[in-house]
Amino acid sequence: MKNALPSDISQLLGGYSADRFLARYWHKRPLLVRRAIPGFRPLLTRAQLFALAGRDDVESRLVSRVRGRFRLEHGPFAARALRRGTAPPWTLLVQGVNLHHAGADALLQRFGFVPSARLDDLMISWATDGGGVGPHFDSYDVFLLQAHGRRRWRISTQRDRALVPGAPLRILRDFRPGEEWVLEPGDMLYLPPGCAHDGVALGECMTYSIGFRAPSAQELTRGYLEHLADHLQRPGMYADPDLRATRAPARVPERYVERAMRLIGTLRPTRESVAAFLGAYLSEPKASVFFDPPAAPLARARFARAAAARGVRLDPRTRMLHRGRALYVNGDTFADAASPALTALADARRLAPGPLPAGRDLDLLYAWYTHGWLHPGASP
Ligand code: SIN
Ligand code: CO
Repeated sequence: MKNALPSDISQLLGGYSADRFLARYWHKRPLLVRRAIPGFRPLLTRAQLFALAGRDDVESRLVSRVRGRFRLEHGPFAARALRRGTAPPWTLLVQGVNLHHAGADALLQRFGFVPSARLDDLMISWATDGGGVGPHFDSYDVFLLQAHGRRRWRISTQRDRALVPGAPLRILRDFRPGEEWVLEPGDMLYLPPGCAHDGVALGECMTYSIGFRAPSAQELTRGYLEHLADHLQRPGMYADPDLRATRAPARVPERYVERAMRLIGTLRPTRESVAAFLGAYLSEPKASVFFDPPAAPLARARFARAAAARGVRLDPRTRMLHRGRALYVNGDTFADAASPALTALADARRLAPGPLPAGRDLDLLYAWYTHGWLHPGASP
């Protein structure tokens, strides 16, 4: 059966338009939406999820509680071992499901009112009765969509962020819940970053976390400095025509420090260099991602005809962004390449059948096809 995904955004957002939701709730306060996606059915079966957790290019974790203490193991996990289970309660968390499943990638398009520069991934959890990852807070904006079974969510506005010392997961030492709800399939809870929460499975359940990352200042600055290191061209050089003789040849001269300060101190982040960094940085796939080039690639002219007749779709693993005339695809920058067709491809993640692509558009589409970044046709 096909999922009854909402055609209008206000069902998904509890009666709010995207603008109203963003103004009132986004990055500010939680929102519970009953029947956000009425009749929602899981996109993957339990067996399909367990199979993903067995792959070494998929990040997965298993959280269990043994005598009241949380235990964390990292995948890959053999599906047989997962079916047998560990001492209950336990939870399997599979990260980046949208990278490996076209339907999961399509589900994220429902949240396309948030720029994909902010998107992290779709994580799916499978829990046995009583399973959960304990009370904690995240640095993510997250939509927690109940996909199967029931989960009780408790949240808190507490400011106390002290964690249980020595625990393998970030567990709040003193969780003081305020509101609580039991979510049924199709219900959704939006949480802003920093909002303490605890979800406990009532019977077996599956929860989908649609997460939007909010990078720290440290992470962004470090990324920008690394980008600069690769792209920077600085004029001038150190000069000391006034050098005096020293009796301590190993001492770093203070004049050296001053002059280096002057050379380095003229460096200022410009809007364009920060934007160039962001495009490449935000479109960079996760370290576990590898693309599969087509085994028997179509010749360029046949590819062009197939793209015109059947359209093209981005591979679920592809991250594609645009700004002005620049396109950013999987960490690569294509300056001056943005055309109406390629910008539409980035936004919709697909191009409908249409005119035969030509010129630079065709050059790029064909190159990306041979990398495995996109495919002709509407569905896998
Ligand atoms: C879960 O699905 O069990 C964890 C989601 C979360 O608390 O962020
Ligand atoms: Co969380």
